Amino acid sequence: MNNFDAYRIFEENGKSIGKLVQLSLDDLDAGEVVIRTHYSGVNYKDALAATGAGKVIRRFPCVGGVDVSGVVESSLDVRFKAGDQVLVTSYDMGVAHDGGFAEYVRVPADWVVPLPSGLTLFDSMVLGTAGFTAALAIHRLEQNELTPAKGKVIVTGATGGVGSLAVRMLSQLGYHVVALTSKSSETEYLRGLGAKEVLLRSDVDLTSKRPLEKALWAGALDAVGGETLAWLARTVQQDGAIASFGNAGGAELHTTVFPFILRGVKLLGVDSAATPMPLRKQMWLRLASDLHVNDLEKIAHRISLTQLPQACSTLIDGTSRGR
Ligand SMILES: NC(=O)c1ccc[n+]([C@@H]2O[C@H](COP(=O)([O-])OP(=O)(O)OC[C@H]3O[C@@H](n4cnc5c(N)ncnc54)[C@H](OP(=O)(O)O)[C@@H]3O)[C@@H](O)[C@H]2O)c1
Repeated sequence: MNNFDAYRIFEENGKSIGKLVQLSLDDLDAGEVVIRTHYSGVNYKDALAATGAGKVIRRFPCVGGVDVSGVVESSLDVRFKAGDQVLVTSYDMGVAHDGGFAEYVRVPADWVVPLPSGLTLFDSMVLGTAGFTAALAIHRLEQNELTPAKGKVIVTGATGGVGSLAVRMLSQLGYHVVALTSKSSETEYLRGLGAKEVLLRSDVDLTSKRPLEKALWAGALDAVGGETLAWLARTVQQDGAIASFGNAGGAELHTTVFPFILRGVKLLGVDSAATPMPLRKQMWLRLASDLHVNDLEKIAHRISLTQLPQACSTLIDGTSRGR
């Protein structure tokens, strides 16, 4: 096999620097399955890794890209054979194992998910970790008795990768979705995804010191953390639930116990990386069926490896939209 292009992240003078390099298969981390990449996606975590804005990368140098979809080139594991369409999301990809920003990827067979019928390789990467996380957050809320009849569901960081997909999936499931965003220019985009209401961060007082406020939401999906998550805790209604999966606005959480002991609010953690394979496969089947998003092109745009640095910086400064 000839050398191929890869976007590898190096550490130089204590800083992370992504570079387009040529690699051979022997340069990649070990694994039983070699995949010829068709698509990857750019997640917030990828941007943190590539720019060094967050300490998510655990091994230098490392090819970036927490997600990949493609076709099996070769496999030492009987579960996969050359020509199979597959995808991999998270595990150590792109942070401690060479990831999806390369023409070839080599991974342990235990990480590989067969592409479910009903999804294309492109669709699976518009979804990627973002869509998988949105599905998992919805699943966690439903396991905790959220239904459309219970009331409104709010999605924060709504124009982001996870947020956009969550808005779309929830609206398809019949929920009354409220999108919270910092971008007034994206109101129509969010309504187009199915949001019934769009709330601007600048119109909401997130800083109140009151332990509880007017109960508004049956459920919440939070990409932002920090004062936004604290506000959600104060405004979720009796027995409602919050799925917390992100920290785009801050990692700290200052709240009181009152939402939990006076309203029975549930705070549910969502960790896509450690999802066991049976649940992982179940979520991908849902992404191909009841959570299927038809017009994924609407929230995605294609870029090449050379455009990755720009894509990563717009994610870090919060000005990107969709995938
Ligand atoms: N737990 C998991 O398994 C898991 C999996 C995937 C992602 N995540 C995390 O989930 C979050 C979202 O990921 P993503 O891929 O959707 O990222 P993204 O595409 O960058 O979206 C994040 C969104 O959050 C909002 N935002 C950004 N900076 C902000 C700030 N300083 N204050 C308030 N809001 C801000 C913006 O939306 P608006 O302008 O619309 O408000 C932005 O579009 C990240 O923290 C990521 O690390 C976790």
